[in-house]
Amino acid sequence: MDWGVPVKKIVLVYSGGLDTSVCIPMVREDYGYDHVITVTVDVGQPAEDIRQAEAKARALGTEHYTVDAKDEFVRDYIFPSIRANGDYMGYPISTSIARPLIGLKAVEIAKRLKADAFCHGCTGKGNDQFRIEFPMRAFCPEMPIIAPMREKNLTRSEEIEYAKQKGVPISQSVEKIWSIDENIWGRSIEGGRLEEPDFAPPEEIFQWTKGHDASPNTPRRISITFEDGVPVALDDERMGGLALVQRVNAIAGEYGVGRIDIMEDRMLGLKVRENYECPAAVTLLTAHRALEALVLTRPELDMKAIVDRKWSELAYQGLWFDPLKEDLDAFIAATQRRVTGTVFLELFKGHAKVIGRRSPWALYSEDLASFDSKSFDQREAVGMVKNHGMQSRMYLQLKSKLA
Ligand code: ARG
Repeated sequence: MDWGVPVKKIVLVYSGGLDTSVCIPMVREDYGYDHVITVTVDVGQPAEDIRQAEAKARALGTEHYTVDAKDEFVRDYIFPSIRANGDYMGYPISTSIARPLIGLKAVEIAKRLKADAFCHGCTGKGNDQFRIEFPMRAFCPEMPIIAPMREKNLTRSEEIEYAKQKGVPISQSVEKIWSIDENIWGRSIEGGRLEEPDFAPPEEIFQWTKGHDASPNTPRRISITFEDGVPVALDDERMGGLALVQRVNAIAGEYGVGRIDIMEDRMLGLKVRENYECPAAVTLLTAHRALEALVLTRPELDMKAIVDRKWSELAYQGLWFDPLKEDLDAFIAATQRRVTGTVFLELFKGHAKVIGRRSPWALYSEDLASFDSKSFDQREAVGMVKNHGMQSRMYLQLKSKLA
C-alpha cells in the first residue's frame, strides 16, 4: 500500500473490540496519524477474537500484525507467577501479567517499523493503562502515547454512535453486557449486573468451568510434578508449559475448579466487583504451595509469604521491570531450587484438594514425627517447654503487681 510522504506512523495495541476499533479513525482524523499499525498479541484469548481483530483491521485499512506470544507468556510470565504464588486479594493475577508483555510486543514492533507514537484503548478508570504504558515509557521514553478513550471520556453508547458514523464494524460480542478479558492463565468477567456486589453471578458468564449441577459426581485424582518451582508433568506425563496449563484448565474446569468472586481494590482506589475463572491457576498454585510447605523451612515460608505478597503487588501494578521485583525474583529463584517433587490432588465440585505430596528435598522425617518412634527423645523436650513463654510469664507477674 502506498502511504504517501510524509506520514506519521502510530502503533495501536489492538484487541478488535469496540474501544480499540474506534481508535483507528480517531487517530487518523483527530490526531493526524495516517499510517496505523495494529498489533494483536495472542496470549491465549479465543482464536475467534484474533480472527475478528484481523478481519476488522483489514476492513479499516491498517497494517496489521498478530504476534503469537503464548509460549513466551507461559515461560516468562505465568511460570514466574507460579514460583511467586502470584495472587492479589484472592485473584491469581492473570490480566495483570499479560499487559506488560503486550506493551513489550508493541514496543518491539514500533522500534522495528520506526513508528512515531503509541495508541491504546484503555479508559482512565482501570489498571491496564498503567501496565501497558509502563514498557512503552520505559523503552521508548520519547514517544507520545495517545489514549483516545481516556482523553475523550466517552460513554459506551457514544462510542457505538461514533463507530456507526465512521463505518467501524461492531461485532456481536460488543453488544453483550459483559466485559471479558481472557488469556491462558485466566478469564475475567466484569460489567452488566455484576457491578452490583450483591448480584449472584449467573451461570452464563462462565465458559471454562462447570457449575455443581453439570460437573461430575465422582472425584478425579491428578498429580502435578514440579522442577525448580515450575510444573513439568501432569499424571507423570512430561509436557511443555503451554500444553500443561491448557490441559489442567480443561480437566479442572470440568470439575468446576477456579471460580472466584471478589471485591478488588484497583490501583486508582476504586473498589470493583470481579469474577474470575482460572481452573489451572487455582490447581497449580494450590499444588505449588503444598510442595513449598514440604521442602522449605518455617522461616523461609514466613519470609517467602512476605516476598510473594510484595511481588504480586508489583506484578498487579504492571511494574514488571522494577528493580525491587528483580531483587525479589532473586530470592524466589534461590528458594525454588528445592521446589521439586510431585503433588497429588483430588478435583471435585469446585475444589482442588491436596491429598499427598512427595519430594527428594522434603524436610519431613517420618521417623522423627511418628508416634511409634524413639529417635526423637521426648524427655529432651522438657527444657524447651519449661522456657517457653518466659517473657509472657514475666509480663503477667508484672501486670498483677503494677496494674
Ligand atoms: N481486575 C483485573 C485486573 O485489573 C481484570 C481487569 C480486566 N477485565 C475485564 N473484564 N475487562 O487485573
